Amino acid sequence: MTKTMKNIDSIGHLRGESLFVDDIITKQNTLYGLVFDSPIAHGKIVNVDYSKAEILEGVVKIFTYKDILGVNQIGGIIADEELWAEKEVHFAGQPIAFIVADSEAIAKKARSLINIKIKELPIITSAKEAKEKGSFINAPRSFRSGSTKESFDQCDYIIEGETFSNGQEHLYLETQGCYAYPMENGNIKITSSTQGPTQIQIATSKVLGVSMHKIEVDVIRLGGGFGGKEDQATAWAVMSAVAVQHLKKPIKHVLNRHDDIRMTGKRHPYESTFKIGLTKNLKIQAFEAEFLQNSGAAADLSPAIAERTLFHATNSYFIPNVKTTVYSCKTNLPPNTAFRGFGGPQGMFVIESAIAQAADEIGVNKRYIQEANLIAENDKFSYGQIATKVEAGNSWTSAKEKFDLKKLEKDILNFNAENSRFKKGVSLMPIAFGISFTNTPMNHARALVHIYQDGSVGLSTGAVEMGQSVNTKMIQVASQTLGISSSKIKLETTNTTRVANTSPSAASATADLNGNAVLKACKLLMERLRKISSKMLSVDLDSISFENDFVLIKNKRSDLSWEKVVAQAMLERVALTENSHYATPQINFDKTKEKGHPFSYHVYGTAITSVTVDCLRGTYKIDAVQIVHDFGKSMNYGIDLGQVEGALAQGIGWMTMEEIVYNKKGQLMSNALSSYKIPDILSVPKKVDVIPLETKGNEMAILKSKAVGEPPLMYGIGTYFAIQNAVKEFNPNYKLKFHSPFTPEKVLMGLYES
Ligand code: MTE
Ligand code: HPA
Ligand code: MOS
Repeated sequence: MTKTMKNIDSIGHLRGESLFVDDIITKQNTLYGLVFDSPIAHGKIVNVDYSKAEILEGVVKIFTYKDILGVNQIGGIIADEELWAEKEVHFAGQPIAFIVADSEAIAKKARSLINIKIKELPIITSAKEAKEKGSFINAPRSFRSGSTKESFDQCDYIIEGETFSNGQEHLYLETQGCYAYPMENGNIKITSSTQGPTQIQIATSKVLGVSMHKIEVDVIRLGGGFGGKEDQATAWAVMSAVAVQHLKKPIKHVLNRHDDIRMTGKRHPYESTFKIGLTKNLKIQAFEAEFLQNSGAAADLSPAIAERTLFHATNSYFIPNVKTTVYSCKTNLPPNTAFRGFGGPQGMFVIESAIAQAADEIGVNKRYIQEANLIAENDKFSYGQIATKVEAGNSWTSAKEKFDLKKLEKDILNFNAENSRFKKGVSLMPIAFGISFTNTPMNHARALVHIYQDGSVGLSTGAVEMGQSVNTKMIQVASQTLGISSSKIKLETTNTTRVANTSPSAASATADLNGNAVLKACKLLMERLRKISSKMLSVDLDSISFENDFVLIKNKRSDLSWEKVVAQAMLERVALTENSHYATPQINFDKTKEKGHPFSYHVYGTAITSVTVDCLRGTYKIDAVQIVHDFGKSMNYGIDLGQVEGALAQGIGWMTMEEIVYNKKGQLMSNALSSYKIPDILSVPKKVDVIPLETKGNEMAILKSKAVGEPPLMYGIGTYFAIQNAVKEFNPNYKLKFHSPFTPEKVLMGLYES
């Protein structure tokens, strides 16, 4: 049995004592960095005049690409992103220089004194336009199974349509930032708010022209990342490190909100088209989709995100004939990046739209099509993975029954018959989300465990705490495996000198990967301590176990304490440190064939969403979201429930109100919280019910507790369709549109269109 535990950060957060980058006590002589970025979205740099800024008192130095001793390149998947623009700029907000000054205020003043001349070039802001002009990040990718062409010939219904889903600003509470300082012999230490410490170590070593071992990256915790700090925490850290290399002084660089929003990439907007074919009994026989991903001006993680769109293009449905293609379209926007779901939500929105359109044209409730096509045991996903331990049908049926869908539908029918100004709508949203980095080589992690001679424990992993409470889960794994109380265990910062070559904390896989490494290390330590205990107690090794800080003999508590065993281990010179490596077994993927078994398992669930639309105003309220979610066997229900609720709110925000607007010149118009609305306490559902699906758990998940970080975001997609159903109730002439977010403005237009 897994013992649950209180979040180790709860008290620190509540008291404001938890440390973030901006809280680090600065060293003497610390200088402050600020980025000078491109004011326009595309052009040739004719001249930059730094002279006025440079002579401002308190300005120490302004760094440009000329100061780079290594290479001016920070691209991860593709080397297509300069740290500081040399000759051309490709998006508004692209870094050109880095001002280092005695204070942030001086740096800001200096920035306003820089004069730049740019010869403007044509600007592309939409994916469609990029495709027409042949502007791509890389070659398109296609997943195929069966033959859609032949299959469409046999379909009774063929429906085509198009969709758009907008981007999304991460709006982590803590903005991007780092604190970098010189150590001896040219070594540099960087504390960063990053999901990917190793990523920063690699990029810094390349740009500075030094080996990785000269760069130490440390992460305390993040005030939220949501994918926005998987790749895009790198630039700021590298810039600061360049400054440290030259000035040999500590550099602090924490972005203000405006700079952060303007300069960083967001969730990718997608423009997509679909064609779906069904038989008379509502079985989906064929599905084709073309996804145009608005990647922005550089690759960043776009190719991997595009790939995950294809993996989730059929959501939790089995479709025998599939052809999906994704284009990563190069535009003059900041490079878009990872955001909770990593392209999966964009894919799922399209298949859900296709089913909604089909239902509308056929004249059935959408849920009958959904239900008729849920993936079942041993069905194949379009990428070749056989679905096993499938919970799609279970979660669907369970949600319908546990939340009494029949009654809800009847109540809504009555309500709509009696009310003319307010209309209600309901929708069902099933999810199936694959767990593992889709790039198989990334699925590994390590842990370093020290048992100190007084019996306390120091635990290091590659996991980054960003609010998802992975640190608490790591302590739980150690506490349970060692049989000691959690208060004896300290979770160390994430540091590249203690745990090296880490994958970023992402893909919802952090607890699975790092937790399994912790488990292995603790088991190895346990073997040693059990041997010592059996000698100390003169009993059989097999009868020994540890629990509640004591040795058990055949599950009965002895007088021998954990501390005494540890002390004896010291006397016997037994190693009390262990380092373990875990790599997810069984997974593989062949990109040349676009087939394989990329995921260690899937997370399933079903949400029922009901909404009320005010048909005079176009505003709406989400009455309830009722979810049956597949946690496996949750190791910490409080934390996992928090993840479901948070992700749901974020998904609803993406689908309903968060509206990113760039103008034709590629300037971000929604560049502040006054023009970019995220869900608040008034806009979240009045009621959120979550029921854990009863399952045996999944052996591939850490302690059978399934990954939970991203999947529930996609329940938010249900909101779009619930609102759409309510609009249709009011206005039968409303023609379905799939253009998210479904803002009150769009709802109002829909209510009164003819
Ligand atoms: N929860 C909080 N509070 N803050 C975050 O930044 N990031 C999400 C999710 N939940 C995030 C979060 C994203 S995008 C991912 S991939 C996972 O957490 C990462 O952590 P995990 O792998 O431990 O689930
Ligand atoms: N998910 C999240 N982040 C990633 C992935 C993924 O599948 N691949 C590379 N970075
Ligand atoms: Mo999450 S988008 O994989 O950081």
